[in-house]
Amino acid sequence: MRIDIVTIFPEVFAPLESSIIGRARKNNLVDIRIWNLRDFVHPEDRHRKVDDAPYGGGRGMVFKCEPLFEAVKKIKEENAGSKVILTTPQGTLFTQEKAVVFSREKGLIIICGHYEGIDERVSSICDEEISIGDYTLTGGELPAMVMVEGVVRLLEGVLPGESPANDSFFSGLLDWPCYTRPEEYNGMKVPEVLLSGNHSRIEEWRKKQALMRTKERRPDLYRAYVERRETREED
Ligand SMILES: C[S@@+](CC[C@H](N)C(=O)[O-])C[C@H]1O[C@@H](n2cnc3c(N)ncnc32)[C@H](O)[C@@H]1O
Repeated sequence: MRIDIVTIFPEVFAPLESSIIGRARKNNLVDIRIWNLRDFVHPEDRHRKVDDAPYGGGRGMVFKCEPLFEAVKKIKEENAGSKVILTTPQGTLFTQEKAVVFSREKGLIIICGHYEGIDERVSSICDEEISIGDYTLTGGELPAMVMVEGVVRLLEGVLPGESPANDSFFSGLLDWPCYTRPEEYNGMKVPEVLLSGNHSRIEEWRKKQALMRTKERRPDLYRAYVERRETREED
């Protein structure tokens, strides 16, 4: 899979060079390229201006159409069929389901905004507008990195020996609690069942814990999970 990120701050993407994502890149499981939006301003613009004042007045600057249209055109010439994603707090929420859908794409082009936002006409070249949560950040760089993390860890071979299917949200539930050595710490003991070696009991306990914590911490998810299960049973 190839992921292209368009930004005015290419230097902030250093975190994508280390840990699991860095290793996935080194192993050619994903090809991530960072593009500087300023490289796509009109050649006659000596100031390399990517933004301008908003029509109608008011505070803040707005990303101009031209550099973004040019950047997307160039990237699509290299990787036709990539899905274009605009980061915006006004977009559809990025969820585990979205991460799974995106992980099946051939390529993603992620556009990072800044300041007041992006000229509305840029939406016409985007396939989806995505928000990472109901809060406003200063730029699209962190949202882009959140999406890259969420998507790349699902790619074949990125988490060898581990299955993301057990993680929170994958099956619609939160994950179960986990423990490691020592068996007792500051008077707190590891649940006996996990030391029993009885795999079916352990599995049963984990499933129950996942259900209980989801019900307690995220009743919205729990309701949706139960409804889905009931619908499946009726079918
Ligand atoms: C300050 S925000 C612009 C907010 C815009 N004026 C609004 O209220 O909808 C600047 C940029 O940060 C990014 N951004 C901020 N919050 C985001 C979020 N929750 N999800 C995704 N992107 C976000 C977007 O790229 C956006 O263009």
